[in-house]
Amino acid sequence: MTPEHASELARKICDLAPVVPVLVIKDAAQAEGLARALVKGGLPALEVTLRTPCALEAISEMAKVAGGAVGAGTLLTTQDVENAKKAGATFGVSPGATDRLLDACEANDLPLLPGAATSSEVMRLLERGYTVQKFFPAEANGGAPALKAIGAPLPQVKFCPTGGISIKNVNDYLSLSNVLCCGGSWVAPSDLVDAGDWDGIEALAREAAALKR
Ligand code: 3PG
Repeated sequence: MTPEHASELARKICDLAPVVPVLVIKDAAQAEGLARALVKGGLPALEVTLRTPCALEAISEMAKVAGGAVGAGTLLTTQDVENAKKAGATFGVSPGATDRLLDACEANDLPLLPGAATSSEVMRLLERGYTVQKFFPAEANGGAPALKAIGAPLPQVKFCPTGGISIKNVNDYLSLSNVLCCGGSWVAPSDLVDAGDWDGIEALAREAAALKR
């Protein structure tokens, strides 16, 4: 898959809803209920971070939920890409980007939302053909004002900012012309996930899905 095609597909994923839930799953038994609640609440694109032992199993469970688009986050290595693809992930997300990771995603036909934090990182990805990128970690890098400033000379690049975003500051990002959607974990807080409070999570998803962009 070319970077241009990957970006087209990444854009479609980002267009699905204003927020992509970033999920750290501790128990694969929680995966299906969590995915159902988020999709029902209006957030179909889900990022499962490869940071817990059951993450790949969780992706497989979530991939069965109708109406969802399940991606693998925290992709770092070629092996991560191959594992994610096998588990049923339809897109990938990474905190940054290396040539080896980009090569692996392109070779495995996994559309990637590659992470960038500076103008040079954005330009390097753009040079390779990636026009849809993740701005990470968003708040620690200066937040919405920084992303707006990066976008002034690079309006052709669109972003999914992630990291430190919540219902309190999400509108600062969604109002920018270079933001397609935002990533965040606030829609699936661990206390609600651990309690299996799917109604509570659906309500948070509904609130996020109604945000204007
Ligand atoms: C992460 O690193 O887990 C993601 O960027 C999500 O960040 P958040 O928990 O600040 O939303």
